[in-house]
Amino acid sequence: MIEFKKLSKSYDGKTNIVDRLDMTINDGELVVLIGESGCGKTTTMKMINRLIEPSGGEILIDGKNILEMNPIQLRRNIGYVIQKVGLMPHMSVGDNIELVAYLKNWDKEKRRARSRELLKLVNLEPDQYIDRYPNELSGGQQQRVGVARALAVNPDIILMDEPFSAVDPITRETLQEELIKLQSEVRKTIVFVTHDMDEALKLGDKIAVMQGGKIIQYDSPEKILKEPVNDYVEYFVGKDKLWKSPEMLYARDIMQKRPAVVLEHRTPAYALEVMRKRDTDFLVVVDAPYDQPQKMLGVVTPKELKGKGMVENNRMIDIMRKDYPTVTERTSMVKVLNIMKQERLHYIPVIEEEKNLLVGLITHGSIVNIITDALVDSEVEKEAL
Ligand SMILES: Nc1ncnc2c1ncn2[C@@H]1O[C@H](COP(=O)(O)OP(=O)(O)OP(=O)(O)O)[C@@H](O)[C@H]1O
Ligand SMILES: [Mg+2]
Repeated sequence: MIEFKKLSKSYDGKTNIVDRLDMTINDGELVVLIGESGCGKTTTMKMINRLIEPSGGEILIDGKNILEMNPIQLRRNIGYVIQKVGLMPHMSVGDNIELVAYLKNWDKEKRRARSRELLKLVNLEPDQYIDRYPNELSGGQQQRVGVARALAVNPDIILMDEPFSAVDPITRETLQEELIKLQSEVRKTIVFVTHDMDEALKLGDKIAVMQGGKIIQYDSPEKILKEPVNDYVEYFVGKDKLWKSPEMLYARDIMQKRPAVVLEHRTPAYALEVMRKRDTDFLVVVDAPYDQPQKMLGVVTPKELKGKGMVENNRMIDIMRKDYPTVTERTSMVKVLNIMKQERLHYIPVIEEEKNLLVGLITHGSIVNIITDALVDSEVEKEAL
């Protein structure tokens, strides 16, 4: 665990480059620092391995103040990947990867075996690459060697400062995919700097949005997307992002909250009146009025009301459809849309899982509305720029 406590950095004449940061990074988490150029991301990161000394506050790693540790020792236990890779040009790929292990006096065989293993891990065939020199590799391949080197001595913490910003977009995506896979295998604590929100959303367990040396919001990608704390974060995320990440949308984000309902003992005539008033042809039959928790019992549409359904002393409980599909609040939008398409539904009730209580209703209309809003917003935004 890494903890910042009122962590600050000032240079002569420039105060608050990093401004009293409080932050906790848990073991095995990949945390992304994101923000505009000059907001203090690199400075923050370099204080973790003491390439930069704080002017105030402290950093604890597993409860220990790093200012009381030997900086060289500390650095050898923290992997570091920087934008320009920083491979030694006159050393082979293998020797580059083994550099820290060498400094730690690992014997040669153990080092070699480790670097072959690491090359495989970053998708470079060891026989083909271990004896090459950095200038005989593409940018993306050099980046992979950089990652392998950061993993060499099996550090618990890895710092990555815009590691993928120098490569083309396609290689970049490949490297991101590889990092996700790698992380699922090795589960390191990773601090990752970027100014690309797509990258942050894709990689981060948590994202810290920084501005002027401060953390404005520190949350899961989902929260950052759905509940930006202010206009800056919202602007930074970009309104249309949520719609590019449909897997992060759930039923509760698109449902309408007070669907039209009818109590179980009501008559067909009463149901028709509710439909007219609420301007809908779909009612959820429930066991209690609005001010109480409502259990969903079934649904009623004009089909159930037709013909013998209209008989006056019929009750909703007698004529309703009982086996109507439902989803829960956490069902993904993608799944909701699939169910609606497969079952040819225009409506789908949203149910709280434990007690089967009705919490909302998704309609074709509500989905169209929300998508239209998002598209219009992002158009307006483009024009305003
Ligand atoms: N040695 C220094 N002396 C004075 N100011 C510095 C020094 N190093 C960095 N700064 C200033 O500190 C601020 C934060 O720099 P930092 O490198 O942390 O930004 P960053 O968020 O990583 O930006 P980028 O996205 O461009 O890499 C900048 O305004 C920079 O000019
Ligand atoms: Mg930087």
